[in-house]
Amino acid sequence: MQRPAVVSNLAELRQAVASARAAGKRVGLVPTMGALHEGHLSLVRASQSECSLTVVTIFVNPSQFGPGEDYDRYPRTLDADLDALGTCGGGILVFVPRTEEVYPPGFASWVEVGPVAEPWEGRCRPGHFRGVATIVLKLFNMVGADIAYFGQKDYQQALVIRRMVEDLNVPIEVRVCPTVREPDGLAMSSRNAYLSAEARQQALVLWKSLCLADAMVCEGHRGAAAIRQRLRELIQSNADMRIDYIALADPETLKPVEQVSGRTLAALAVRLGSTRLIDNRFLEPPPS
Ligand code: PAJ
Repeated sequence: MQRPAVVSNLAELRQAVASARAAGKRVGLVPTMGALHEGHLSLVRASQSECSLTVVTIFVNPSQFGPGEDYDRYPRTLDADLDALGTCGGGILVFVPRTEEVYPPGFASWVEVGPVAEPWEGRCRPGHFRGVATIVLKLFNMVGADIAYFGQKDYQQALVIRRMVEDLNVPIEVRVCPTVREPDGLAMSSRNAYLSAEARQQALVLWKSLCLADAMVCEGHRGAAAIRQRLRELIQSNADMRIDYIALADPETLKPVEQVSGRTLAALAVRLGSTRLIDNRFLEPPPS
């Protein structure tokens, strides 16, 4: 197992990418906040399958955390992350920028994405997507990759980034890769590290409730209100859970649907003690 090379300054990064380009290599980008798990590594492998150089960025971006959120306690595990990336094989360069280089004194420009950034995470975490869109555009500009890889786990985030790329003519392709789950269905997340053994068991209700929504749709239920109500009851049967939202929505606009008449996104966010978990899945009504 060989750990990948790590650079922390922008000039070095640009030089490495420029020489890869000069050698005719395609460059992939996997932006992360570290505490890497199989979900992140699946994005790295997706990039390796198309690109001869994969730049993995590890940066816990302060501007996407609200006051009172988990920025300070967010897991920072660089050593283990480099070991994990070492298992993925060659062609990886890790960029770990310093916060002062990303946000130097006087930094004052922000990216605001419109309606798709407003509901769900946007409403529960004011300013979150402004921070995400800004750091992702900065990483796109710093790395200069051909293709960037994101996870469906953060569906709304991927949609916000697609919108930004289209609206601002950013010369990069965006790929969204499937959510990687634990064997029992829990979506992998760096925040799962916060969960006690008991909370880890309780957290399964997110996936169970998305599966319940899918089963209801397969059985012929179409009314979104009734489906959401069943999910709410299932989640609230657990006294420690606080629901931020349960949504059934159009996958492109995120506008709520009343009837599940075509491919629909079910998305939810739940707080379990001080840990906030999100998950989503598509609901596909069988052809009638
Ligand atoms: P982070 O939460 O570290 O996630 C980095 C990427 O991994 C995101 O695209 C996310 O959707 C993807 N990912 C996380 N869990 C996954 C899973 N279980 N299966 C598949 N993909 C998964 O998302 C961020 O960081 C930040 O907002 C970032 C885009 C890096 C900007 O700071």
